[in-house]
Amino acid sequence: MRVLVSDPLSTVGIEIFKNTPGIEVDVKTDLSPSQLEDIIGVYHGLSIRSKTKVTEEMLAKAKNLKVIGRAGIGLDNVDIPAATRADIAVMNTPLGNAITTAEHTIAMIMALSRNIPRATATLKDGKWEKKNLRGREIYNKTLGLVGIGNIGSLVAERAMGLKMKVIGCDPYQDHDSIERLGIRHVSFDEILAESDYISIHTPKTPETTNLFNRETLYKMKQGAMLINCARGGIINEDDLHEALVSNHLGGAALDVFVTEPPGKICLMDLDNFICTSHLGASTHEAQDNVARDVATQMVDYLLTGNAPNIVNQK
Ligand code: MLT
Repeated sequence: MRVLVSDPLSTVGIEIFKNTPGIEVDVKTDLSPSQLEDIIGVYHGLSIRSKTKVTEEMLAKAKNLKVIGRAGIGLDNVDIPAATRADIAVMNTPLGNAITTAEHTIAMIMALSRNIPRATATLKDGKWEKKNLRGREIYNKTLGLVGIGNIGSLVAERAMGLKMKVIGCDPYQDHDSIERLGIRHVSFDEILAESDYISIHTPKTPETTNLFNRETLYKMKQGAMLINCARGGIINEDDLHEALVSNHLGGAALDVFVTEPPGKICLMDLDNFICTSHLGASTHEAQDNVARDVATQMVDYLLTGNAPNIVNQK
């Protein structure tokens, strides 16, 4: 069985492919879409992260492909219905980078609350700012979680350790399992009305696209802060800009954008906006974890037909 690794993958994953009898691996991480289409026909497995776009056109050439493995969570770059029609399993690795992403969320909350990016920039610019950069404590503040899956629940655990009050909602989790985590289960509107901080942990779907828009942003508490380390487009960036300029919101932190890289969008000019370049899952530990998980799952699937985390199982 031949596997193509078309996006960078930690060595630990490549080694699993190399050391498994019956599996041959090629690593080609600089292919253009047409180069990928030219060679995909000979492969049985395709290992990707977010750069490779798995389109219907590409799948039409993938005559032998049995499995697509995403080292990471988001599958926005894969045409899953087309893969399902072609009888190709699509799998992700939902656990390996969850801690890292939860930690990034907490880092964003702290950096926003204590003005760390602005303090760094002004000090490097030779200015000793104190009065303008007075922050706020997160102790006893309410954190609202939109989405309480693998990452949201880890954020909750960490926030409770910092003595925040955590409330949340998730249409895929029942009331009791949310409350067992120590999270007060509330409606989305109650999250908007009660939270000092809101953090988003849902996939991007038709239901969550632009979930935070002019109307919902203005239902948030005056001075509240909004964090998104999930997917770009769940917050409408123009509406967020307006809510920050009007000082209705106290601040926002984005790790993800509608278009990545986002370029010089209007948010970049605002002092109460901080950002990172989709670094939520970027730690050595997480990248090793997802590489190990995806390689193990793909090998199992190719050699036995069984593996966890297939998202389009019939
Ligand atoms: C994920 O979906 O796993 C994260 O957003 C990180 C990534 O895109 O690699």
